[in-house]
Amino acid sequence: MSVFASSSCFLQSQHKCIMIFALVCCCAVLIALIFSAVDVWGDDEDDIAEGKCTCRVVLVENIPEDLSIPHEDTVSLAAGLRELLDKAHRSVEIVSPWWALNSTEYESKPTQVKQGQILLHQLMRLQSRSVSLKVVSGLTNSSELKALTKSGAEVHYLNMKALIKGQLNSSFWVVDRKHMYIGSAGMDWRSLSTMKELGIIIYNCSCLVSDLHKIFSLYWQLQYKDFLPSIWSKKLNALYNRDNNLQLHLNDTEAKAYFSSSPDVFCTKKRTKDLEAINRVIQEAETFIYISITNYLPMLNHSQPRYWSRIDNMLREALILKKNIKVRLLISRWEQTEPLTLNFLWSLKALCTESVSCSVEVKFFISQKQSNGQLYGMNQNRYMVTDRSVYIGNLNWVGNEFVYSAGVGVVISQQVDQNNSTVVERMKAVFERDWHSHYSKTLQPDRIPACSKHTVKEQPAASGSL
Ligand SMILES: *[C@@H]1O[C@H](CO)[C@@H](O)[C@H](O)[C@H]1NC(C)=O
Ligand SMILES: *[C@@H]1O[C@H](CO)[C@@H](O)[C@H](O)[C@H]1NC(C)=O
Ligand SMILES: *[C@@H]1O[C@H](CO)[C@@H](O)[C@H](O)[C@H]1NC(C)=O
Ligand SMILES: *[C@@H]1O[C@H](CO)[C@@H](O)[C@H](O)[C@H]1NC(C)=O
Ligand SMILES: *[C@@H]1O[C@H](CO)[C@@H](O)[C@H](O)[C@H]1NC(C)=O
Ligand SMILES: *[C@@H]1O[C@H](CO)[C@@H](O)[C@H](O)[C@H]1NC(C)=O
Ligand SMILES: *[C@@H]1O[C@H](CO)[C@@H](O)[C@H](O)[C@H]1NC(C)=O
Ligand SMILES: *[C@@H]1O[C@H](CO)[C@@H](O)[C@H](O)[C@H]1NC(C)=O
Repeated sequence: MSVFASSSCFLQSQHKCIMIFALVCCCAVLIALIFSAVDVWGDDEDDIAEGKCTCRVVLVENIPEDLSIPHEDTVSLAAGLRELLDKAHRSVEIVSPWWALNSTEYESKPTQVKQGQILLHQLMRLQSRSVSLKVVSGLTNSSELKALTKSGAEVHYLNMKALIKGQLNSSFWVVDRKHMYIGSAGMDWRSLSTMKELGIIIYNCSCLVSDLHKIFSLYWQLQYKDFLPSIWSKKLNALYNRDNNLQLHLNDTEAKAYFSSSPDVFCTKKRTKDLEAINRVIQEAETFIYISITNYLPMLNHSQPRYWSRIDNMLREALILKKNIKVRLLISRWEQTEPLTLNFLWSLKALCTESVSCSVEVKFFISQKQSNGQLYGMNQNRYMVTDRSVYIGNLNWVGNEFVYSAGVGVVISQQVDQNNSTVVERMKAVFERDWHSHYSKTLQPDRIPACSKHTVKEQPAASGSL
């Protein structure tokens, strides 16, 4: 009966019903359109459908002036960053763990202090050139960031403590979404004067750089958040990764490249994690793996110390499984070098004997002390170069940093040509230059903990066996 009644009602007001139905449909379509266009976590994206991808690359280094290390093949870091800013037409986006360009060290040499101040002034002048400056930082109370904000910069604060109980150690620039810098140096006057730093600048490369911009966008959107979204926007998905490298031309040489990121929870869909990138680079190496880093410590030390085996295992596996692989580690030695580092390095060395034909050599790059007690010439490099690829990252090879710190890395692979002109070969040359410099000292048997001494005697040719 009631069915009959409603159906008759339907018949009577059929016209009205159709109208309402149509309206509801329209609304649904509109809502769907709005949601697909306005993405809560997204950001507008540049059109990168140019097809051709031919980029220029320069290696940038800061070598303290009192260190007798020649660097004809690399550009000075300060000059490289200044040129990058000169090239900016629309936007400069910077992530740095530190902001200390304006030195307060009155005792330092004026030339050392100057580079940082010049860079700071150049950053402050960006707005007068109608270039926007965006900064992501974990610092809450930096006078320098306040000064930059006054001069027009937008600064987003990333609460790393709340998000991942860690630090923001990322250090990179994105300029006009087509030029970029990644390296060990942050926005610190020491990185432009007294510390030994290495990075890479790539020009005219929107195909690649748009992917680094996505990592910047991710940080940018986390401003003041104290939790991570359960789902990231599709627009933050990686364009390239270790299984899908970007094919490009770097200085007229064919190359493949992609970015990696840390920690795991900052990796959106398809983004390669730093550890996966390092693993892939190690696995693909055939003849040598050269590593230059400040700290090597396979320990995780948050609530209580634990062995963190990830990278240590990768190296061990490479040593055992690869025929005749040659591994060199160049670690920084300074007063805060954790003593356990020696034990771990020695244990790696002990793996190669006559029955396992591999080779591990370890050297320490010795930091100098200035007359005022300041550290000088510390090797802050954070890269690995093999016969095929180079990985340049932001993090120390320490468990805590990979698990709790934010950082990014770039992997570039190239066929070796005979000209020594590829990035991979240039990096190898840089490594060898440092390795043979007189600041690099071989891991000495007398420094080895007592428990390892037995092994030393069985390996008389431990140093210089190759
Ligand atoms: C840099 O430091 C000097 C001396 O401490 C100070 O006078 C100047 O205002 C600072 N500049 C900026 C941009 O913070
Ligand atoms: C911020 O820094 C200024 C000086 O640099 C200091 O006076 C002030 O106490 C700091 N504020 C906080 C909340 O740390
Ligand atoms: C980048 O491309 C522009 C225009 O194509 C060119 O003028 C400039 O020299 C290039 N920059 C570098 C560093 O190659
Ligand atoms: C672990 O942390 C504690 C304090 O937090 C420190 O005393 C200790 O030296 C650290 N150990 C390592 C191996 O880093
Ligand atoms: C990361 O940040 C922490 C704290 O700011 C610092 O102690 C550590 O040296 C940084 N690591 C790198 C690689 O910059
Ligand atoms: C050496 O580099 C030049 C360009 O600089 C290139 O034309 C030539 O093919 C390279 N030679 C080899 C053997 O790769
Ligand atoms: C390439 O570099 C190696 C050392 O890394 C050097 O022995 C060789 O002569 C260089 N070749 C050219 C063509 O410059
Ligand atoms: C790439 O070419 C530029 C000049 O166009 C040069 O300055 C730079 O050193 C080259 N980079 C490498 C890694 O060879």
